[in-house]
Formats: sequence, C-alpha cells, structure tokens
Amino acid sequence: MSVRVQELSKVFGTQRAVDQVSFQAREGEILGFLGPNGAGKSTCMKIITTFIPPTAGRVEVCGQDVQAHPLAVRRRIGYLPETNPLYRDMYVREYLRFIASLHRLKDARTRVQAMIEQTGLEREQHKRIGALSKGYRQRVGLAQALMHDPEVLILDEPTSGLDPNQLVEIRRLIRELGRKKTVIFSTHIMQEVQALCDRVLIISKGRIVANDPIERLQQRISGERQVTVTFAQPVRREALLKIRHVKAASELGDNRWKLSADGRHDIRPEVFRFAVHQKLTLLEMVQEQYSVEDVFQQLTR
Ligand SMILES: Nc1ncnc2c1ncn2[C@@H]1O[C@H](COP(=O)(O)OP(=O)(O)O)[C@@H](O)[C@H]1O
Ligand SMILES: [Mg+2]
Repeated sequence: MSVRVQELSKVFGTQRAVDQVSFQAREGEILGFLGPNGAGKSTCMKIITTFIPPTAGRVEVCGQDVQAHPLAVRRRIGYLPETNPLYRDMYVREYLRFIASLHRLKDARTRVQAMIEQTGLEREQHKRIGALSKGYRQRVGLAQALMHDPEVLILDEPTSGLDPNQLVEIRRLIRELGRKKTVIFSTHIMQEVQALCDRVLIISKGRIVANDPIERLQQRISGERQVTVTFAQPVRREALLKIRHVKAASELGDNRWKLSADGRHDIRPEVFRFAVHQKLTLLEMVQEQYSVEDVFQQLTR
C-alpha cells in the first residue's frame, strides 16, 4: 500500500477539520479527493506530506510513519500545494536547478532537462516564473513535485484556475503520471473525478462519505433507476406495472413511458422480454445515468 491513513483527525481550536478519516491508496492508483471548500482536503494532504501533525490517527507512506520518519516520507512524496509557492523572481530553469540541489540529485542537469520536457516547459524555461501564465506556473509546480522521482504524488487542486485548454493539458499529464505513480489529487469539480480517477473519495465536513470506484459509486446511490421506453404501439399502464421490479410507469406521450424501479435492479432485460412476449415493437430504451454531481449531492446532503 502506498498511502495508508487510519482514523486521522485534525482539530483546529474547537473545529474538527478532519474527523476519523481512513483510506488507502494502492500503487499506480489515481485517487480523487472530492469535496466542497472547507471539507478538509488540504488539511489531510498537509498531514500526509508531513507539513502539519495530526491530532490523532496514523498515516503511513510506503510503509513509513509520517510522524516517526518525516524525512523518509518526504523523499517518497511529491507535493503540489494548493497555493503553489513559487519564487516569482526566479527563472524556470534556475528554480528547477535549485529544487534539484535541495534534493541533492547527482545528475541534476539531466534531471532538470527531463522534467522540463515531461511537463512541456521547453518554450518557457528561460522565462521568469512571475511572467508565466497560471497553467505554466502549475507545470513548474508539477516539475518541482516530480524532481526526485517520488513514488507518490499529492496534488492539491492542481487544475484550479486554469482555462479550458490548460485544464485538458494538465489532466493529460496527471493521467500519464498515474500510470507509474500513486496519485492523490483534490478537486471540487466532479467531471474531473470522472475524467481522471480510478477511485473517488468524497469528503464533506471532515468526514468521508464515500470511498468507491467511480462506477460503483454511481450504482450505489439509493433511490430509483429510471428507464425511458418507447413502443411502436399503445400499451396499458397496468401491463407495464406487471413487469418485474417496475414500481411506477408514467406516460410521456406518443407511446413513450418512464418506468421507475428500485436502484438495485436493472429492469431493461425484463422490459425487453415483456415487449417480445406482448408482440410489441420496442423503438427506444434508455436508462438514465446518474452523474457524479447527483451522487455527490445525495451523499453530502
Ligand atoms: N491552520 C488552520 N487554522 C484553523 N483552521 C483551519 C486551518 N487550516 C484549515 N482550517 C479549517 O479547516 C477546515 C478544512 O480546511 P481545508 O482542509 O483547507 O479544506 P479544503 O481543502 O477541503 O477546502 C476549514 O473550515 C478551514 O477553515
Ligand atoms: Mg483546499
């Protein structure tokens, strides 16, 4: 296990910013940390990266306890903080050389060059950091986080404030990094989680409200599944209500019906068999998908 968090809590004054949070991230997994502002995402990340101590609980990174062995942990972690603290007056290449020297890398020059290439900074490498667009500053932050080739990457809202083009580029980079490394990134954007993650951890008011693979999360939410069906012929409501698991049927006009069932059952095979049995022509059958937004709203209500 790359990251193991057990019953982690952090109290600021009277506030429990993180409340009994437990989760794990496996090697090569992209884990999305989804939650509204103030949910406790950054606080968790600061503890995992050894920048602040927990009030209670335990965090291990690649088998090393963050409190007992903070330096060993830092060697294995690349961290892009929420407010990326770059030296605006330094030049891109100069800054990355500085970072390489902090890590005491032997072949610093080669490594810096490789990072510049990997994060697409070739054209900007001789610019002052302060003169870069937000998207490129974010790349410098990523190059910094990757410099010592860490096993685990912790990225705190890496895409916030980027324009749509920059967003696509940074997401592509994160996806690529996720093939070899364990990546935990935070976001409050649902689509991002759908686009990038293997698994999503939803956090609200310091607590984990869901920890699931994306597909399972969508299935897991309670409530109804709705299927819209169009037949070529008129159908009686009573007949539709006899289909197994169908709980309600409402007519939308032109032989179109909305059928509802318990969220646990996929009624489409039954509807198909019904149509065949009744010699009805089925023109359309669509099961409505829940978006991550729906899931999120349900879980954090
Ligand atoms: N150093 C701090 N002192 C006091 N309260 C803090 C501190 N850091 C964070 N908090 C509070 O903890 C809660 C969680 O914050 P944070 O982890 O930054 O959330 P997120 O990153 O999900 O937006 C917020 O209510 C925030 O105000
Ligand atoms: Mg935050």
